[in-house]
Amino acid sequence: MKIVVLAGGLSPERNVSLSTGTMVTEALRALGHRAGLIDMFFGLGEGRAEESFFDAPVPESFKKISREAPDLAQVRASRPGTSKSMFGPGVLELCQMADLVFLALHGTCGEDGKVQAALELMGIPYTGAGYLSSAIAMDKDLTKRMVADVVNTPGWKTVDYTADDIDSLVEHARLPLVVKPVASGSSIGVSIAHTAEELRKSLTDGLAMGGRTVLEEYVKGREIQVGILEGKALPSIEIIPREGFYDYANKYQPGAALEVCPSEIPAEWEEKLRSAALRVYETLGLSVYSRADFIVTADGQPWFLEINTLPGMTPTSLLPQEAAAVGISYNELCQRIVEASLE
Ligand code: DAL
Ligand code: MG
Repeated sequence: MKIVVLAGGLSPERNVSLSTGTMVTEALRALGHRAGLIDMFFGLGEGRAEESFFDAPVPESFKKISREAPDLAQVRASRPGTSKSMFGPGVLELCQMADLVFLALHGTCGEDGKVQAALELMGIPYTGAGYLSSAIAMDKDLTKRMVADVVNTPGWKTVDYTADDIDSLVEHARLPLVVKPVASGSSIGVSIAHTAEELRKSLTDGLAMGGRTVLEEYVKGREIQVGILEGKALPSIEIIPREGFYDYANKYQPGAALEVCPSEIPAEWEEKLRSAALRVYETLGLSVYSRADFIVTADGQPWFLEINTLPGMTPTSLLPQEAAAVGISYNELCQRIVEASLE
């Protein structure tokens, strides 16, 4: 099969996506596919879309995830020309030449349904969930509203604020609170505010990410995530960061967090977690694969935080570890994603 692996783009998770894309491309090639990796935003540069793209080497620079999210203004400025398109030169032409587009994108402009909708309008098959479910799952406020009847999710308020509103928000807040941009991933921009000063800082920083922010009750417990493949839950994985919570640095710095899979929890806790993950998946109309993130309290109650429709597939990512726990290798996982997406 000819497969375009689409990665990078103008998302704060750009580097994570390039790492996912590199691994996926190598796996697809090992499986015998003709697969090529392309940066959605930079495309083929000034050159023309070429058949040889499908066999071209994957750039070494795509493999590394730095400890910081990229500066997107700098990334944007480094593309020549004045085109405002999110698709770089040659990208859509290449997608049309392929049998399938494997979405290795994460976060805004990739995981949020827009790319899915564009491909769908062009009649190009792609991996993962459809555009509408993707769009809803990317929005933490809409997601929580949709699933609040079927799972426990921490209480929350979504605010769309300006610098003038910060004093009043701080004054009325019941701390501690988790502060999250409404639509981002890899914990970029997420912080836990224990004091009024911390909340003020989180809200001030949040303005740089657009302002629309979820203020969520902080639930103390263990961080456990559940992958789903083809409508079935995989064994859960517990994350124990060496310091703080599972933020961007702890996610992608090898060894920064201890990951235990299958989680060491009683069977009935595991059952509750898996069924909660599946209820969310079904309520949002998701398909192919996903990963749902929870906090589990000391009494074994899962509290749903969010679901990722294009979960990371990097060397430190969790879904591949969950698949491995039931004997599904990385390559097989990619093959199953390809097949389930074409059904
Ligand atoms: N958003 C990252 C890639 C994840 O959830 O794995
Ligand atoms: Mg996420």
